Amino acid sequence: MSELKNDLLLRACKRQNVERTPIWIMRQAGRYLPEYRAIRAKADFLTMCKTPELAAEVTIQPVDIIGVDAAILFSDILVIPEAMGMHLEMNEGKGPVFPNPIRKTDDAKKLKDIDPTKELKYVLDAVALTKKNLNNRVPLIGFSGSPWTLLTYMVEGKGSKNFAEVKKLIYNEPKLAHSILVKLSDTIANYLSVKIEAGCNAVQIFDTWGGILSQKDFEEFSLRYVEKIISQIKRKDEPVIFFAKGVHYNLNKLAGIGANVLGLDWTMDLGKVRKEVGDKVALQGNLDPTVLYADKSYIKKEVKNVLNSFGKGNGHVFNLGHGVLPDIDPENVKALVQYVKEESKIFHHLDTKSN
Ligand code: CP3
Repeated sequence: MSELKNDLLLRACKRQNVERTPIWIMRQAGRYLPEYRAIRAKADFLTMCKTPELAAEVTIQPVDIIGVDAAILFSDILVIPEAMGMHLEMNEGKGPVFPNPIRKTDDAKKLKDIDPTKELKYVLDAVALTKKNLNNRVPLIGFSGSPWTLLTYMVEGKGSKNFAEVKKLIYNEPKLAHSILVKLSDTIANYLSVKIEAGCNAVQIFDTWGGILSQKDFEEFSLRYVEKIISQIKRKDEPVIFFAKGVHYNLNKLAGIGANVLGLDWTMDLGKVRKEVGDKVALQGNLDPTVLYADKSYIKKEVKNVLNSFGKGNGHVFNLGHGVLPDIDPENVKALVQYVKEESKIFHHLDTKSN
């Protein structure tokens, strides 16, 4: 039995009965909220990540202000490479930069083997404090990047258009690429396990750049490592959500890697994917994040479209198809959450067996 007052997310992830569809939003703790910007004005991004009081505060903001059904720990996927010894700069307006990216065997050799309970203790402290301050109101989600998505940043050094450097690495030096992916996988499995131990109720693996690979390369350089991680995570019944952006093929295979939930981007049809994967997994998504630029009546219409697309029954977690954008009006995000709460009830009938 869960002590959580609102455990809709966890039930939906396990495809159990819910009275309405739960919603949380990727990047819900972020710059679109004036309350986030007020704290961010006083501390740089990494200081916020490394100060449990600040991380806990901004993690809880969207629960209080927006009314979402889950909190996601404020942090970043790039804290792992940073802890492994790569200098990370979060440049204003330019995104994250590793000034000394990994290109050769010698660079890779410098990557430290880390114990997340030591080098990433600040994350676990933030989890514990957030859990305490949330007071069991909603579940707390922990996360990590996938090995492949972390590798792209570590090799490119910054955001990229063609991902030329990381592609050169996997084509020309696949052994080196695999050796780094193995190391990242073990670290991530360990990291997610200790996050669960510290109190996270669910974890999400972000494969933001899975979609830049061909099908066969995706299987070789991303999916099989995610599968391995999921099998290694120490958990009781905490669900694992796998979000791979731009990966539209072979969803049955994706549904079989051990994740409880597949996160879908907005280019996919929830109903079609549901038919394809059957009852193997729950689905998360997938409103186009830019719909939040539209007026409220349009947002409501699109919420209904997403709910209709999944259809009746269990196993849907509402989310955007990718992160909320920094210049979205928080009032529209509040309205979105309200619409999902109201409009989703008719898709769940607890008194029938049709669920
Ligand atoms: O979802 C949440 O609210 C939790 C916090 C969270 C952040 N980053 C905070 C953040 C999460 C889950 C992430 C994951 C993350 N970080 C991903 C995967 C998810 C995705 O969006 O695909 C990636 C690729 C990163 C790497 C990263 N961090 C980038 C590319 C950037 C710059 C782009 C941007 O949005 O500015 C960041 C910085 C970052 N991470 C910010 C936040 C709130 C903005 C930093 C600031 O306040 O200046």
